[in-house]
Amino acid sequence: MTDNGKNEIYEYGVHVYRARHEKIRALKRLHSPRCHGFRVWPSSWLLMDFFERTILPKGTRVIEVGCGWGLSGIYCAKKFEATVTGADKDPEVFPYLLLHAEINRTPITTLNKGFDELTCNYLKDIDVLIGSDICFWDSMVRPLETLVGRALDMGVKLVLISDPGRLPFDKLGENLSKNMSGEMRSRSLHHPYSFEGKIFKIGTVPF
Ligand SMILES: C[S@@+](CC[C@H](N)C(=O)[O-])C[C@H]1O[C@@H](n2cnc3c(N)ncnc32)[C@H](O)[C@@H]1O
Repeated sequence: MTDNGKNEIYEYGVHVYRARHEKIRALKRLHSPRCHGFRVWPSSWLLMDFFERTILPKGTRVIEVGCGWGLSGIYCAKKFEATVTGADKDPEVFPYLLLHAEINRTPITTLNKGFDELTCNYLKDIDVLIGSDICFWDSMVRPLETLVGRALDMGVKLVLISDPGRLPFDKLGENLSKNMSGEMRSRSLHHPYSFEGKIFKIGTVPF
């Protein structure tokens, strides 16, 4: 890991600006994410760590839902040359995502849609659905459950959702395991900092 003057993290092959980086401070004067999309959350590193041990075929079509700054999607674009869409209900996160796409030299498409609005049309050409730290309220369980169901119906082959292990996320995992299979695994990482969490997975890689 390099920590460039403590304003930037370079880990898992991606560059991330810290909150105090001048470019982030400049964006914060103009854009205020409303629903916790104001930073890169630790669970996104869990997804990158998972992908370190696997390979997605070049050109895999990935959607990151509740993407915030979109670092897991950027990782997939950079490492696997995946075609990535970052979807979020809050458009205020996209300037931060686009800045990170730019510094990582990866093209990412943004989509201003909430979980409920990601209809079959948006999912029919997707191979992999990912999300990190997107199930932190009870009210998020049902929309995510139906989104995952729609995604599988439309042919999505792999679903990966990571979380610190909050109760709504456990509930989501329980419901999905009951109705659609899948498995919940505890995971820990030590870079860029120590963190323990969980990943819920449906499907296998390679697919
Ligand atoms: C805790 S942040 C996580 C951001 C990013 N996934 C990460 O790990 O760094 C939660 C994100 O979910 C988005 N979000 C919350 N509710 C949503 C919904 N119903 N549909 C889509 N995105 C949502 C927020 O705007 C925010 O960007």
